[in-house]
Formats: sequence, structure tokens, C-alpha cells
Amino acid sequence: MARKIGILTGGGDAPGLNAVIRAVVKYGVGKLGWELYGIEDSFNGLMERPFRVTPLTPVSCKGLLQKGGTILGTTNHGDPFAFPDGSGHDSDRSVEVKRAMDELGLEGLIVLGGDGTQKIARELAERHGVRVVGVPKTIDNDLGATDLTFGFQSAVDCVTDALDRLHSTAESHDRVILLEVMGRNAGFIAVHGGIAGGADAIVIPEIPWHAERLVQKIDERRAIGRPFSLFVVAEGAYPAGGNVPGTKLVPGSASQKVAEAILAARPRVDLRVTVLGHLQRGGSPVPFDRVLATRMGVGAVDLVDAGRWGELVCLRDGRIVGLPMVAAEQNRVVDPEGELVRAARATGVEFGG
Ligand code: F6P
Repeated sequence: MARKIGILTGGGDAPGLNAVIRAVVKYGVGKLGWELYGIEDSFNGLMERPFRVTPLTPVSCKGLLQKGGTILGTTNHGDPFAFPDGSGHDSDRSVEVKRAMDELGLEGLIVLGGDGTQKIARELAERHGVRVVGVPKTIDNDLGATDLTFGFQSAVDCVTDALDRLHSTAESHDRVILLEVMGRNAGFIAVHGGIAGGADAIVIPEIPWHAERLVQKIDERRAIGRPFSLFVVAEGAYPAGGNVPGTKLVPGSASQKVAEAILAARPRVDLRVTVLGHLQRGGSPVPFDRVLATRMGVGAVDLVDAGRWGELVCLRDGRIVGLPMVAAEQNRVVDPEGELVRAARATGVEFGG
């Protein structure tokens, strides 16, 4: 009898999710003879009747390598342990996931998701005996367990392209342009994109900003005949002495604060703000992410094949390995004293602090 395995995607999407699904289909179904079932919209597909579950085969999964988003759909509002019941309350419906798997004859689940989704998967394993293998995902690259997550390089590529475009218009008009990018708690997209796109300042949550330093950067550039500047602002950045932003971020608010502080000190500066938003999450994965996603998909199948339930596929020192699922819950932030920030500072980038 063929093994029956489920696969789902949870949390925000990231370029490369479909490439992972493709790899699991090609290897697990195509080579190992599994029956693979795609569960729609994270765990929700198992908590609704009729179940929203589709068989995935090499034929039904053609053309996935370069496809953005996730063919399975995803949601940030599907925690089975705190499921919105529609009347403003949450209820624990986690046991329904296990029941659905038993009814469908699913032996276990491959769960593609970030820290929140992996925590749910771990709790399903611990409390209901659900067998899970995790594949970490976030464009923010802020999961400490894995050296890199797929989707990150695609987001950096998008930021770099945006900076290249903004460069020419900022230079033509002698303007200061602020580009707000994603990164609620961690500034990796901002730092990597900023370095690659030649930003003059990079403002990140790990280094609270001082207006004087940002204004000084604009002045210094003017003094050397560069009357335009490009600043990257991570959405979670905040001023020194200011409040750390909450979990609900208003797009554009971080860069707006920086803009107001600059204009308060230099009212004549011609300044514009661009908020890059979900462009960073959409579209095709870059080649690096397609390769990493493929390796992680194959790694997930290997873990299931070896019966290593309860593990998370990670890239460590260039190799794909399995680590206990709880590893997904360790977050990573940019080290303000680290080599990355040092390289940026050494090449003239101002961090505002
Ligand atoms: O965690 C990934 C991420 O892209 C963050 O960088 C960003 O703050 C958040 O998701 C946006 O989430 P949503 O799509 O729910 O607005």
C-alpha cells in the first residue's frame, strides 16, 4: 500500500513554496510511490467539511518551479489551537486536524511555514500525536535554525531592482528618496538589498535611528557634489528613544517618521517615499531560491522516508540537515556589531545609529 502523506503551506507566502511542493511531488510521488495530498489554506482544509484536500501528482503539478505564491493557498488566520469562531472569539479545534488525518488515512504532514506555523505543527505533534516534518519559510530570513530561507534572495532581488530604478530618478531630480521594505523584527532584507542597491543609509529595527545622523549623511553627500540620496527603511525601524512598533505595522509609517524628522531639520530637501510592500513577496523565485527550495523539498521527503518525524529541514553550513522542530522558534536578527553591518559601514553606509 502506498504511503499517504499530506502537504500544506501556512502563514505569509514566499517565492519558492511551489518549488518545494514540486520537489516533494517529483521525489515522493514520482520516485518513492507515495500518494501526496495538498491541503488548502494551511490547516483550514482539514477543519472544514467537506475537507479541502487535492491529490498532487507529477502531471497536476507541472510548471511549478518558477510559479510565485502557493498553489495550495495559505492564511495567517488558521491556528487550530485558537481558531476564530466568527463571533469574535477563538476556540481550540486542534483535535479536528488529527481526526481529519485519520479519516483521510494520512500518515503525516509536511508543513511549509514560518515560526508561527511550525509552532502549531510542533504542538499538534506533542498534544495529538500528529506526525509532522517542517520546512522553514520566510522572506525575512530571520529563522535562526537555517542559514537561509527560500524567498529571501527573491525579496532582496526586488529591493535591489527598486533601488536601481530609484537611483536614476533621485539623481535626475536631486532628491532624497526613502524606500520602505519588509522586515518587522529583522533588517536582513534592508541590509542585503541596501548594500546591493548602493543605498546611502539603511535604517533597521536592530539599530534605532537618530535624525541628526541621517541628516548629516544628506549634508555630507551634498558637500561632495552628490545632491541626492537613497535611504532604505525597514518597516520595523524606529527612532532612538521612541516606542518599539507593535506587531500590527502600518505600511509606510516607519519611512514617514524618518521623512518627517529629515524635513523638520532640512525643510528644503526635496524628499519622496516609496513603499515596496508585497511586491517583495510576489512573483517568481530567483534561481538561488528555486535551488534552495528544491533541496529543502527533497530534504523533507528524505526525513519522512527515514521516519524522522518531528524534524525541520534546515540549511546549515551549506548542507541540508534535519533539526528538532522547536528550532524553528528561534529568531535571528541583524547583529549591529557583525561583519555584515561592518562591511556596509566601511563602504560609507549610514545606519542612523
Ligand atoms: O514575515 C514575512 C512578512 O513578509 C513580513 O516581512 C511582513 O511584515 C509581513 O510578512 C506582512 O504580512 P501580511 O502579508 O500579513 O501583511
